[in-house]
Amino acid sequence: MNKKLDLLNNKKAEALNGGGPERIAAQHKKGKLTARERLHFLLDENSFEEIGMMVTHRSTDFGMDKEQYLGDGVVTGYGTINNRLVYVYAQDFTVFGGSLSETHAEKICRIMDLAMQNGAPVIGLNDSGGARIQEGVVSLGGYADIFYRNTLASGVIPQLSAIMGPCAGGAVYSPAITDFIFMVENTSYMFVTGPNVVKTVTHEEVSSEELGGAQTHATKSGVTHFACANEIEAIQHLKKVLSYIPQNCEEPAPSLNYQAGNERREKLNTILPENIQQPYDVRTIIDEVIDEQSFMEVHKDYAENIVVGFARLAGKSIGIIANQPAFLAGVLDINSSKKAARFVRFCDCFNIPLLVFEDVPGFLPGTDQEWNAIITNGAKLLFAFSEATVPRITVILRKAYGGAYDVMNSKHIAADMNFAWPSAEIAVMGAKGAAEIIFKKEISTAENPQEKWLEKEKEYSDLFANPYRAAERGFIDEVIEPAETRIKLIKSFKMLENKVVQKPRKKHGNIPL
Ligand code: HXC
Repeated sequence: MNKKLDLLNNKKAEALNGGGPERIAAQHKKGKLTARERLHFLLDENSFEEIGMMVTHRSTDFGMDKEQYLGDGVVTGYGTINNRLVYVYAQDFTVFGGSLSETHAEKICRIMDLAMQNGAPVIGLNDSGGARIQEGVVSLGGYADIFYRNTLASGVIPQLSAIMGPCAGGAVYSPAITDFIFMVENTSYMFVTGPNVVKTVTHEEVSSEELGGAQTHATKSGVTHFACANEIEAIQHLKKVLSYIPQNCEEPAPSLNYQAGNERREKLNTILPENIQQPYDVRTIIDEVIDEQSFMEVHKDYAENIVVGFARLAGKSIGIIANQPAFLAGVLDINSSKKAARFVRFCDCFNIPLLVFEDVPGFLPGTDQEWNAIITNGAKLLFAFSEATVPRITVILRKAYGGAYDVMNSKHIAADMNFAWPSAEIAVMGAKGAAEIIFKKEISTAENPQEKWLEKEKEYSDLFANPYRAAERGFIDEVIEPAETRIKLIKSFKMLENKVVQKPRKKHGNIPL
């Protein structure tokens, strides 16, 4: 047995050595951790159990049979994060550049199958040169096997992708199907074709970082939800996101112990600016309402006119969607609609109740928006809210104008509770614009048109620039004192805890894409 144990230990040591000390040193020199180091920081101490450590590739072309590394460029297994089970794979760039072979793909698929059968999240740490070039089509098949599983798992178990190196070609589509992407500034990039191909085809000169780095995808494309300063920060963000979400779609969202206290928040009575046109940061209101320091913003630097993220209210996980008056007056446009719709759908998949703070002047007008399909994209958010069956509450803070009033989780699309502050204005549009349209003739023929306009604006404003017309109809359940917002929300979410909705039978809806 001793000899056999020696053999086992030697093989284990060989696998742990990855692509060898030189390649490990090269990895470190680039400011990157190895696959195993990443897992060490990700998982609870001593919780990692590896599966498939001795797997090797089956390729014989190009002398590949003579080049074998145990594990074949990906470390797979399971462990715990804060004592909760997760399945993980970490691509090892020191072995064939972390490239994906047939067996490398099989290892990832096995982890995904186990995760599905046992109802726990899958976390992928990506660092790969893409398809194993020596293997050709079997590698492409391996990718598709993963994409298919990503799709089956979507909405069943949470899937999180950290990009910690190259991720190019069709390889980007696995992370793209998963729920959240975390990227590392300056050492990770994602693109369908790299700078060289771009130069040949479009004659554009662009660096990898500019084309598909973390900042680009966090601000311009919205592909990544988090741009992190380094790998450790990416891992910390990933772990934090996990803390708000359940293990699978059958479980309720996690809840922390909470000691009830005085839930009034006096500051909220004076938090809005005097002038309705003046911007303010809606995050100051979010922070005041939720449990202290519990807000984790998602997609922070993309479509900043809407704020989305996880928070806790009386210890319970919730998802927040809030118009942001500090950016483009909080208007809804293509990108903000897509961003919010995706977040609403994630929360609905995983039983995370939704809280909406509304202060929206409407949809953004213009050819750019129309030609790029604000109609289809705005409809995404409308569709996402309408089909969500988790508890849904809206608080109208100030403006709720036009179609945006309907879209932002209104009573009409089956929100459960709709509150308004006394400062709310629920109308087809702002009083100034409304007066200009409906009193056009009177204003233009008046002795003093400006004075007339102001008079008519006041008339319209007195009639509609308040929440009471909507409250009379029952579109608003209660007009509340801002200081009581937290109290009302805690009670309402508690009241909605056992919400059950029967939906019409169908295969699946056809969300406007
Ligand atoms: C096999 C690969 C590889 C690959 C890298 N290596 N990519 N081996 N298949 N795809 C190997 C290298 O030979 C090298 O081996 C080691 O990994 C490290 O690579 P370097 O080039 O030295 O590293 P670096 O300078 O950091 O450059 C990294 C890189 C570059 C930018 C990723 O390697 C690269 O451009 N690779 C090819 C990328 C690519 O075109 N992939 C196919 C994309 S198409 P040694 O032995 O020297 O350490 C695709 C389709 C997927 O992926 C479709 C899915 C549907």
